[in-house]
Amino acid sequence: MNLRVATPHDLDAIMAVENRSFPTDAWSAENMAAELDSPHGRYLVDEEDGTVIGYGGVRALQGSADADIQTIAFDAAHRGRGRGRALLRALLDEAVAHGAREVFLEVRADNPGAEGLYLSEGFEEIGRRPRYYQPDDVDAIVMRLDLRGRGTRDRQVAEPADVASVRGPSTSSGTQAGGSGTQGGSSVPSTSSVTRGGEPHE
Ligand SMILES: CC(C)(COP(=O)(O)OP(=O)(O)OC[C@H]1O[C@@H](n2cnc3c(N)ncnc32)[C@H](O)[C@@H]1OP(=O)(O)O)[C@@H](O)C(=O)NCCC(=O)NCCS
Repeated sequence: MNLRVATPHDLDAIMAVENRSFPTDAWSAENMAAELDSPHGRYLVDEEDGTVIGYGGVRALQGSADADIQTIAFDAAHRGRGRGRALLRALLDEAVAHGAREVFLEVRADNPGAEGLYLSEGFEEIGRRPRYYQPDDVDAIVMRLDLRGRGTRDRQVAEPADVASVRGPSTSSGTQAGGSGTQGGSSVPSTSSVTRGGEPHE
């Protein structure tokens, strides 16, 4: 595991993993760029030999009790070796550090690998959004994790200042305002979570 905070300079590398991981519903580069530039969340990348092999993001507005895991993905060759779990835990640490008490996410009902990861980290299903993922016509499982009582472990993520010397300054004057993934009908209360629910803000 070699986690560090993502910057806008990581966009192309992240989009390469994104397009390979989500062939039918990858986010656009434009919207991923807005995510990376947003002051309302944190994206992390995992590298191997200097190459980005995975990434994930959490939306956590300072002062808000709720956070949302926005996305997480690894290149296929690097899955199943514990890196996804480590990245998820780092994202949860970020949410706690931002003051969140609960974190939400959505996962495709036909993705037992990701669902298994979330369940094993303590997430519980709180509802479903029928046919939420289009064009594949797949339901979304909405999940929640209570963060209260969860301390931040020893954080192993390089902060932006640590990478500034090699990556240059981050342009963090983001303008992302959305975050509401409200497409499709919903049988559960809106959580504002958009994990893999299409574009991150519409
Ligand atoms: C989901 C993903 C990020 C998980 O990362 P990973 O590095 O493969 O996962 P890990 O090796 O850390 O495994 C963690 C847990 O996930 C679950 N899991 C992983 N792959 C699984 C599979 N094929 N079937 C069932 N459970 C699986 C297991 O509970 C596993 O724990 P265990 O190894 O102790 O049994 C990764 O598989 C991925 O990028 N998938 C494609 C993109 C995607 O679907 N992202 C999620 C969108 S919501």
